[in-house]
Amino acid sequence: TRRIAVTGSASGIGKALVEVLRAQGDTVIGVDREDADVRADLSTEDGRARAVAGIGAGPLDGVVACAGVSAPDPVTVSVNHFGVVRLLEGLRPVLAAAPNPRAAVVGSIAGTQPVDQAVVDACLRDDEPAALELARAAVANGTGNRLYPSSKSALAQWLRRAAVTEEWAGAGIPLNAVAPGVVLSPMVAPLVADEEMKAVMDRAVPMPLNGYAQPAVIATALSWLISTGNTHMTGQVIYVDGGADATLRGPGV
Ligand code: NAI
Repeated sequence: TRRIAVTGSASGIGKALVEVLRAQGDTVIGVDREDADVRADLSTEDGRARAVAGIGAGPLDGVVACAGVSAPDPVTVSVNHFGVVRLLEGLRPVLAAAPNPRAAVVGSIAGTQPVDQAVVDACLRDDEPAALELARAAVANGTGNRLYPSSKSALAQWLRRAAVTEEWAGAGIPLNAVAPGVVLSPMVAPLVADEEMKAVMDRAVPMPLNGYAQPAVIATALSWLISTGNTHMTGQVIYVDGGADATLRGPGV
C-alpha cells in the first residue's frame, strides 16, 4: 500500500481526496490545523517543520498540498505559496526514497487573474518576510483582493520551474497542479449562496461545462496525477474548471 500525505485534509477538496485514496487502499496521512492525523499550521515555519516531522522519515509515495485560504490577508500568501513550497521541499528527501514518488498541488483559475507583481516576485525570490510586508501594504492600500491570485500565480510559476530540475524530474518525481474553477467546498459555498456575489463570480469564472464542481471532481484529477500511471506528465497546471480557462484565455495556448 502507498503512503500519501494530504494537506487540508479536514475540509473540501482535501477531505474528498482522502476519501478517494482510502477507498483505493492507500494509507493516508492527513495534515490540517484541526481534525487531522498531523495537526500543524502551515502558515508558519514551525508548523511546516511539525508537518514534515509528523509525516515521518520513512519513504513517502505521494504528497498533495490542498490546504489553502482565500482571504484578502497576508496569511493567504503564507499558506498558499510558502506553506506549499516549503512543505514540498521538506518532504522531497522522503519522496525521493520511495519507488514511484509523486507530488501535486492545488492552484486556481484565480492564478490567471490580475496579481500584485511585487508580491509574486518576492514569492519567486523565496523571500517570505518581504512578501508578507508587501502583502500588508496591499491590504492597507485596498488591493488585498489581489493576494489570492498572486499566491496561486506564484505557486504555478514556482512549480513550472521546479518540476524540471534535478531535485524533482531528476529524482523521478512528477510535480503537477490542478487548477479548479469554482468548487462547492466550505470555502466557496457560502459565497455562491449570495445572489450578488454569485453574479460577480460567474462573470469572473464562466463554467460552460457542467457549472460549479463538487470537491470529489478535483480529488479524482489529483488522484490520477499522483498515481503510478502518471510517469511522464510534469510541470503542468491542469485546469479542471468547466471550461473557464478556455473561455477567458481563448484559443491561444
Ligand atoms: P476548504 O476551506 O474547504 O479547505 C481548506 C483546508 O485547508 C481547511 O481544512 C483548512 O483548515 C486548511 N488550512 C487552511 N489554512 C491552513 C493552515 N494555515 N495550516 C493548515 N491547514 C490549513 O477549501 P477548499 O475549497 O477545499 O480549498 C482547497 C484548495 O483548493 C485551496 O488551496 C484553494 O485555494 C483551492 N481552490 C478552491 C477553489 C474553490 O472554489 N473552492 C477554487 C480554486 C482553488
